[in-house]
Amino acid sequence: MEILKIVGGTKLKGEVSISGAKNAALPILFASILSEEPSIIKNIPLLADINTTLKVLDALGLKTFFKLEDHAIEIDGSELASIEAPYELVRTMRASVLVLGPLLARQGEAKVSLPGGCAIGARPVDFHLSALEKMGAEFKIESGYIHGVAKNGLKGAVMPLPFPSVGATENALMAAVLAEGVSEIQNAACEPEIVDLANALRSMGADISGEGSPTIRITGVKKLKGMRHSVAPDRVEAATFLCAGLITQGCVTVQGINESYLSSALDVLKEMGGKISSTENSVTAEYLTPLHSVNIETSPFPGFPTDMQAQFMALMTQANGSSQIKETIFENRFMHVPELIRLGARIKIHGNEAMVEGPLPLSGAIVMATDLRASASLIIAGLAAKGETVIRRIYHLDRGYEQIEKKLQGLGAQISRELEK
Ligand code: UD1
Repeated sequence: MEILKIVGGTKLKGEVSISGAKNAALPILFASILSEEPSIIKNIPLLADINTTLKVLDALGLKTFFKLEDHAIEIDGSELASIEAPYELVRTMRASVLVLGPLLARQGEAKVSLPGGCAIGARPVDFHLSALEKMGAEFKIESGYIHGVAKNGLKGAVMPLPFPSVGATENALMAAVLAEGVSEIQNAACEPEIVDLANALRSMGADISGEGSPTIRITGVKKLKGMRHSVAPDRVEAATFLCAGLITQGCVTVQGINESYLSSALDVLKEMGGKISSTENSVTAEYLTPLHSVNIETSPFPGFPTDMQAQFMALMTQANGSSQIKETIFENRFMHVPELIRLGARIKIHGNEAMVEGPLPLSGAIVMATDLRASASLIIAGLAAKGETVIRRIYHLDRGYEQIEKKLQGLGAQISRELEK
């Protein structure tokens, strides 16, 4: 298995290009199921989760062509040979549940393996199912699979979500674009990735308004054409590099992203003492003074994203005083804490709150990545630690960060990927 080796202590300096957002690319790729015509999607990040998504589309009978050098994917959706997303693929990527909406809309039937447990919590899909039921789908659980049928096709409906779930909003949106009549998703997620999905669907001829707000209105159309879309930048990747720059007392510019994608994260970085400047297409975080402690609470957009919590916790280990993180989105999302403690951090957990005492000197150690964003927090901490940090189980990292070690090397970091001996 591969590992990452980091020798900490080098100030990161320079510019890094931000890839397309994983969490936008996945639903957008699944949306291609909605059309029989060919789709072309650009600015696709090169990630393990993208490969899994293509395998799911292949399993459904779509033909996918990944032009790696161009970061582009062409999809021929003319033949839909199957309506089943198999366990072996859903097991490795829960977002496969996003085939439900498009398959029910195009074919009136969908089968997806139940995702099962996940490292960061139970992550049920009840909101997805109840929204699709409002449009006329009926679900049964059979042999570990969710089997959905819309006998008379989907009908436009009002779909109030109990919580602004990102995935449930995406499934409801992708189903509603081909449903008969008008739909309204209430208490919808407002994340930029929802806006990007709506833009991608609009390029297919979908009639959508209100995305980015809690009420999304959709008027169903009979047929959709092929998609032409370029995926929006990855705000989580961008925030990860900004944290990496500040923890090393350096200065990092993330290229290809507008500050509006990062507002809550930038507010926190400013409060910690980072100097933030931006252009239309870039954001820079520069270390000027010792960092201040800060309190954050994760919440749906525009609040502080749960996907950035672990990376900010690493940064807090080097801030003066006691910082607090309250995680309100997922249970069990502090698995990076014992690993950060191995590097010398002082962190206490009480329920869904973590108290981080800083600044404490970190020293390199062997640590284990437990999930995607936890892996990123270990890299950030390793960059500030004295000596060598070895991160194991980095396959988690490869699900969501494109060539992170190469991008960090470009900023001056001493980091390498090696085979574990
Ligand atoms: C997406 C992101 C993930 C991010 C999360 C929150 C993708 C591929 N993944 O995940 O990186 O951390 O949004 O911003 O885009 N819930 C239910 N029932 C449901 C659906 C959700 O109880 O049917 C709960 C979840 O358990 C969780 C909360 O709602 O506690 C938010 O989940 P949700 O917004 O749906 O996250 P995902 O779409 O799974």
